[in-house]
Amino acid sequence: MTDTLLDVSGVTMRFGGLTAVNDVSLTVGQGEIIGLIGPNGAGKTTFFNCLTGLYVPTEGTVTFRGSVLPPKPHLVTQAGIARTFQNIRLFANMTVLENVLVGRHTRTREGLLSAILRGPGYRRAEAESREKAMELLEFTGLAAKADHLSRNLPYGEQRKLEIARAMASDPGLLLLDEPTAGMNPQETRAAEELVFAIRDKGVAVLVIEHDMRFIFNLCTRTAVLVQGQKIVEGDRETVQNDERVITAYLGAPLAETGPDQATGAAPVTGTDPTEADQ
Ligand SMILES: Nc1ncnc2c1ncn2[C@@H]1O[C@H](COP(=O)(O)OP(=O)(O)O)[C@@H](O)[C@H]1O
Ligand SMILES: [Mg+2]
Repeated sequence: MTDTLLDVSGVTMRFGGLTAVNDVSLTVGQGEIIGLIGPNGAGKTTFFNCLTGLYVPTEGTVTFRGSVLPPKPHLVTQAGIARTFQNIRLFANMTVLENVLVGRHTRTREGLLSAILRGPGYRRAEAESREKAMELLEFTGLAAKADHLSRNLPYGEQRKLEIARAMASDPGLLLLDEPTAGMNPQETRAAEELVFAIRDKGVAVLVIEHDMRFIFNLCTRTAVLVQGQKIVEGDRETVQNDERVITAYLGAPLAETGPDQATGAAPVTGTDPTEADQ
């Protein structure tokens, strides 16, 4: 049994009359790769936003390394959780290297005064930051493009750069929101290797993804959200054979699922309630 790193307990997020996340609990252990799947609009991104302080959950607590996290993004980052976004958020007119340096910012000790005076302490810290940032670019395969503007990178590389930037804050847990969206199959396989390599560095990963092959190749455990509720959690067999999951993804009950409906979540509609990126 692994040590618990993240312990989410009964998180609910309501927007007016809409309950986007409904009493969801989840743990992530040290060094684990955990999947989070569900139809569009299921509440996956909202759940991430509740973990990272972008939203203050209506109910529930998020405990990381034994302490309850305050719902403030910079404090969450400082505590050791980093994330990427479903819709890429890079500084388009900064170079690749500069984008990673921004991610490093929370871990540098040198304060504003020292930056203004540009004393030896500042220069040392800056050199160290650049070295770390370059290491991360090597790690993600972007070193040759360190001086390129991030907006000029192809889509797949922008996603990798987001990961490099998130890793720059030295997280203990990395949250990835649809990291392979827009990638071709080859890039997706490479992204799989990257996630394994991140895990091998001792960083736990919680990943939202629609690509089932990606999810089941990587994750020891996967939780399924449907209409804000966690309907099942387990290994590949458990998830794939769960009739509520099949129903949720097909959008209609299967022919033989009649009696089991009593145990399941309400069937979701076939069309996605929202395509809106968060
Ligand atoms: N800030 C917000 N205000 C109102 N509704 C929101 C907000 N953020 C998300 N939602 C709603 O919450 C539900 C879940 O959305 P989301 O978490 O983006 O789903 P997923 O990431 O699983 O596709 C959707 O119905 C969405 O419209
Ligand atoms: Mg989402």
